[in-house]
Order: sequence, then structure tokens, then C-alpha cells
Amino acid sequence: MAVTFQRVAAISEIPRGQSRVFEVDGKSVSVCNVEGEIFAIADLCSHDDGPLGAGELTDHQIECPRHGARFDLKTGKALCLPAVLPIPVYKVELRGEEIWIGDSEG
Ligand code: FES
Repeated sequence: MAVTFQRVAAISEIPRGQSRVFEVDGKSVSVCNVEGEIFAIADLCSHDDGPLGAGELTDHQIECPRHGARFDLKTGKALCLPAVLPIPVYKVELRGEEIWIGDSEG
């Protein structure tokens, strides 16, 4: 199935080391800026539905603010308890200064 991309923001709207949450095709997606590299993950922790977009970024990881589980921003893999299941990651395209997010995982 072809991936459809949606513009969410200009890169300058998400400062380095921070993330913002957007609606993409009806899903909440957290878009993270790690030293100028952009990642997009579900804004929903696989442990107990915590708001991942409010989590702290460290290197290529995000920490759930609710109970401290960490996830790999590249793969969505859970890196420590209490989460064991991965979270969805979304394709990112940078078009000039704009961030576009794919509407399906992968
Ligand atoms: S809801 Fe994220 S660690 Fe519990």
C-alpha cells in the first residue's frame, strides 16, 4: 500500500531536543527533533497509554513520563520495563524546511 505523506510543521517549529504532537490520519503522532534529525512515533506508550510526546529525549530514546519506560525512536522497540511491547514508528520526509509524516507505520 502506498504511503501518503502529510505536512505537519516546519523544522524550525520543533527545537532540538524537543517534540510536538500532531494528528496524522486520525492518530496522535509525536514528532521529535534529535540534533536536527527528525523521528515520528506514536504518542501512546505501550505500557499504559502514557503520553509519550511529553517524554524526555535522550540520544535516540524517549522516556515515558508516566512510569519511565524508554523506547528507541528509530525502531519503536521498548528498551526497559515496565514496557515490553514496541510502539509504532512513522516514516518521515524532509521537504526543504518542512516535515512530512507518512500515514502508516514502518
Ligand atoms: S504508561 Fe508509559 S511507562 Fe507506564
